[in-house]
Amino acid sequence: MNILILGSGGREYSIGLAISKEKENHTIYFMPGNGATDKLGTNINIKDYKELALWAKQNKIDLTIVGPEGPLVDGVVDIFKANDLVIFGPSAGAARLEGSKAYMKNILKKYNIPTAAFIETSNNEEAYNFIDSMQNLPIVVKADGLCAGKGVIIATSKEEAKETVKDMLSGNSFGNAGSTVVVEEYLDGYELSVFAICDGENFKLLPAAQDHKRVGDGDTGPNTGGMGAYAPTPLVNDEIYKKLEERVVKPTLKGMQNEGCPFEGVLFIGVMVVKGEPIILEYNVRFGDPECEILMPLLETPVSELFYKGATKQLDKLDIKIKNQYGVAVVMASKNYPYGDSEPAEIIVDEIHDETLKEHSHISYAGVSKEGDTLFATGGRVLLCVGFGDDIQTARNRAYALCGQVHFAGKKCRTDIAYQALKHVGK
Ligand SMILES: Nc1ncnc2c1ncn2[C@@H]1O[C@H](COP(=O)(O)OP(=O)(O)O)[C@@H](O)[C@H]1O
Ligand SMILES: [Mg+2]
Repeated sequence: MNILILGSGGREYSIGLAISKEKENHTIYFMPGNGATDKLGTNINIKDYKELALWAKQNKIDLTIVGPEGPLVDGVVDIFKANDLVIFGPSAGAARLEGSKAYMKNILKKYNIPTAAFIETSNNEEAYNFIDSMQNLPIVVKADGLCAGKGVIIATSKEEAKETVKDMLSGNSFGNAGSTVVVEEYLDGYELSVFAICDGENFKLLPAAQDHKRVGDGDTGPNTGGMGAYAPTPLVNDEIYKKLEERVVKPTLKGMQNEGCPFEGVLFIGVMVVKGEPIILEYNVRFGDPECEILMPLLETPVSELFYKGATKQLDKLDIKIKNQYGVAVVMASKNYPYGDSEPAEIIVDEIHDETLKEHSHISYAGVSKEGDTLFATGGRVLLCVGFGDDIQTARNRAYALCGQVHFAGKKCRTDIAYQALKHVGK
């Protein structure tokens, strides 16, 4: 197939890498890609979606895969479909599940899907009254729109919650994205990332993963895009998967059909497990990054087939196969991440002599550019060292062994990725 992947991060690299390793030979294009994706395919640069759809037609693209939420919310899927192109992702209407937290919470409520008690409002007084009525602290305040992972404040007092609401509604903190807020109760439990590949009607669940949002070891410091992930997590059992299927994914797919916006694409279910019960924190409408970087290589089913069937309502005809392995991904970031930019720095990867390590690990490149044959770290999350094994400890050792082979000025990573799993296994 001719395959076009939209996006430029480690997530898109990992999708391309998985597709490039399939038995069938594919031609891969990235728009815009990064300094390393051009080893997997061809980077193109056409920003206007209508022009891009035209290019896709001219170049006989059989399948387009959308990585990030921006293009989805902007309606790239609708534009491609209007041009009779096969594209895997939700329409702009269905992407509101991520584009608006108020929309998402109202869908959860309408279809009786378990979520934290909340109010969504654009009115200060209404929010204050709700906050006054709340029994417990902390209180969670969320900006409605897309805020690149920065729009959620966990307030430790009612005063702080009200201040946050006021700031958001006045447009001070998040501009338009904060013109509506969600105020909700705090859920105390452990967090999971669960992904359902959906075709509007049918779905396939992938193994549950855990992300590590904070920049520092022991979950300290500010939030990031994610500093590492692992899957499958032993913190999930069949009962939780079953509950997620019956109480969450099925009613959501039915609900979105009922709303006239059937959900096709990747449904990212942010879950908090509270006393064994999965409660929904939020939906995203695409893969999480770094979760994608471990889930793609764990798939035995060809990624291109899974996404193609997802895009053409054929998931009922697919028996999804997952490798019987664990994956751990450790993000290596630039010095000043997530506070600011960093100077570009040359990346050197030592030659790996250990055959087992070579076979069971790889790098997924994200924030990199290329000059000649040299890769440079361009700031932010630079790359991910991904390790696999028959148990989490082995997978993790391999990921960290690979980290030791990668060098660039100012590199940093967390040293405790998958600690929750190891604590659990050690019990
Ligand atoms: N109701 C809640 N209770 C406890 N923690 C929460 C709650 N809502 C969000 N969080 C925390 O804040 C993080 C970000 O919230 P989320 O709803 O996922 O928004 P976003 O990813 O858009 O920033 C979550 O991953 C979770 O750790
Ligand atoms: Mg989230």
